Amino acid sequence: MRVGLLTGGGDCPGLNAVIRAVVRKGETFYSDELVGFLDGWRGVIDNRTIPLNVERCRGILPRGGTILFTSRTNPYKIDGAVERVLATLQEQRIDALIAIGGEDTLGVAHRLAGEGVSVVGVPKTIDNDLSCTEVTFGFHTAVQIATEAIDRLHTTAESHDRVIVCEVMGRHAGWIATYAGIAGGAAEILVPEEPFDIDVVCENLKARHAKGRFASIVVVAEGAVPKEGTMTLQSREVDQFGHVRLGGIANLLASEIEERTGFETRVTILGHIQRGGTPTAFDRVLATRFGIAAIEAVHDEAFDHMVALRADQIVRVPLGEAVTELKTVDPELLHDVAAAFWG
Ligand code: F6P
Repeated sequence: MRVGLLTGGGDCPGLNAVIRAVVRKGETFYSDELVGFLDGWRGVIDNRTIPLNVERCRGILPRGGTILFTSRTNPYKIDGAVERVLATLQEQRIDALIAIGGEDTLGVAHRLAGEGVSVVGVPKTIDNDLSCTEVTFGFHTAVQIATEAIDRLHTTAESHDRVIVCEVMGRHAGWIATYAGIAGGAAEILVPEEPFDIDVVCENLKARHAKGRFASIVVVAEGAVPKEGTMTLQSREVDQFGHVRLGGIANLLASEIEERTGFETRVTILGHIQRGGTPTAFDRVLATRFGIAAIEAVHDEAFDHMVALRADQIVRVPLGEAVTELKTVDPELLHDVAAAFWG
């Protein structure tokens, strides 16, 4: 078979491990020809490809990013682009396409399946907010990076008895904030799922500091929002999938905290550091398992499906189910586990 591969949306540690696994099993086991589309859906629209083979994939397992590059292009938002996608797939004689991406990329994959494209999805996002899979690769790496950063922030915050607000990624869901916050001993964790009350945050910090010289790390997901009417947010730029470019809630939060509590407060925004660099061993293994399962799904003609992790087994789930709603943080994890250490 001639199998196309693409990586779409934000890059994510482990993408190269998926590509390597698909290519290895495709070439050596199924005698497939593998074709890489460049820059996500952009490369399919423009018919830009590279040949993929075992040789090309040597050494990429520990590398972050994606050798296929990526973009946030949405063919359904560009005039004539869907027709161009279909024409490219025909011109390239693609029998099946493996799309590696998050909700947006896989949402496009599902719509294209409706147009007759034979497509299999592989879930990726550091945000871990994709439904139907217990975890996405990239998340573990991002949590590890954020936890290490929080550990470092603790010692400097303690030396100065300061509050440090650490902003992590997480547009719609606070998985990174919750996991890194628990792992790093955060004094507060603020997530998009539950608008925060600045008064409660400040009261908790005051209560904590009243007990002694207790520096506090406040972990905030970039998508966290204050309860309506309590703080003002600015409106920002929007991409082709309608997402606002986030980043900066920590600055706003820090000035409110400093003003309301009188505690000296600093800000650290981790940003893309969480997405760059080498994947953890866990993510390399998960990505490899997903890649192997994806090429097997292609040969079983399990199209319009996504490979997923459930109870440590790789399963196939309909793409339509996976992209219907986002997987948000379990409130019990936040309230029963994380909140036991607040205040
Ligand atoms: O891929 C998801 C994500 O990491 C979000 O957490 C974040 O809001 C977004 O990507 C940032 O995207 P970009 O790299 O396009 O600025």
